Amino acid sequence: MLTDIDLQKAILNNIPDQAWLMDRDSRYILVNEAFVTACGLTETNILGKTPIEVWPAHWGREYMKTDAQVVSSGQRMRYEEWRQGPGGQARWFDIIKTPLRDTQGLVVGTVGISRDVTDHKQMKQELRDLSAYLQSVREEERTHLSRELHDELGQSLSALQLGLGVMEAQLPVGSAAWVGHMDTLKALTNETLSSIKRIASDLRPPLLDDLGLESAMEWLLVGFSKRTGLVHTLQLPSSPLQYDHDASTTLFRILQEALTNVSRHGQATRVNVALVERDDAIILHIADDGRGMDATTLPHQKSLGLIGMRERCVLLGGQLAIVSLPGQGTQIEARIPK
Ligand SMILES: Nc1ncnc2c1ncn2[C@@H]1O[C@H](COP(=O)(O)OP(=O)(O)OP(=O)(O)O)[C@@H](O)[C@H]1O
Ligand SMILES: [Mg+2]
Repeated sequence: MLTDIDLQKAILNNIPDQAWLMDRDSRYILVNEAFVTACGLTETNILGKTPIEVWPAHWGREYMKTDAQVVSSGQRMRYEEWRQGPGGQARWFDIIKTPLRDTQGLVVGTVGISRDVTDHKQMKQELRDLSAYLQSVREEERTHLSRELHDELGQSLSALQLGLGVMEAQLPVGSAAWVGHMDTLKALTNETLSSIKRIASDLRPPLLDDLGLESAMEWLLVGFSKRTGLVHTLQLPSSPLQYDHDASTTLFRILQEALTNVSRHGQATRVNVALVERDDAIILHIADDGRGMDATTLPHQKSLGLIGMRERCVLLGGQLAIVSLPGQGTQIEARIPK
């Protein structure tokens, strides 16, 4: 037969958060396994004690203050607090304390639960940063596009308009000057067409939609090597893979960002790229031989290129792994499920 205490304990231990039951003087009556682990004491050293005796005294005093508030008001309390974790880093907790009443309705103690919400908070902050970053990238792209439209296409079209005006007003049709002018304007029209193609392909390479990811990757890497002088290798599956539109865009943008990083930060001489098919996933490897980085410090930086890559993968149910050590190059692996 299970006693009431066994039953309560079984329920409490099933909760992954820290949970406890205490009397109205803040003495622990029951604590769960998560609580014991966080506290670092044995259960027998916790039961019957108050928070001041089991936690660092300044936290203990805070806990007793809120316990007393719940007992005297008879109201449930919910608040967030932070504590210094074992590694010295701040950890955030979402805490709920609820009064426990006897059959007459008198408050005899409290029941509490404390959830570590640090990762959740950090993720929310990252998403907020990322969305601000995406907004600014969009704004930058618009500024860039408007400048290109204005400076390049606007200039060329104005020149064409002017040239046509001169031909119409001043040059006899078929004269040598008219023919010369016509040739100049035809050449200008060709240049304008090339500019339009280049601008459109910078925005989204048509290869990606027309010939697929593999060709677009090849195009990107050839352009990258030409611009930066870095050597590249590209290993592709023997037969073209089937992707949906989102997967190929994601893998293409990840490669684009990774190559930008290699040229900006890597001090590398070469980059090896491979697209590999597995039974359940498509994997993109990007490895450079540059200066590498301390991957453990990355989550605390404000830069968002790597976070953006990871979010793109996660959105498709995939994962991004970064392996890098100072002086030993950087390897990125993006895995997108099929
Ligand atoms: N291939 C690489 N080799 C060495 N260091 C790298 C490499 N890729 C990234 N890093 C390091 O990681 C940091 C974070 O990269 P991330 O792409 O997130 O940001 P960023 O490139 O600095 O800025 P942006 O937000 O414009 O991309 C970089 O500042 C750089 O120090
Ligand atoms: Mg970057």
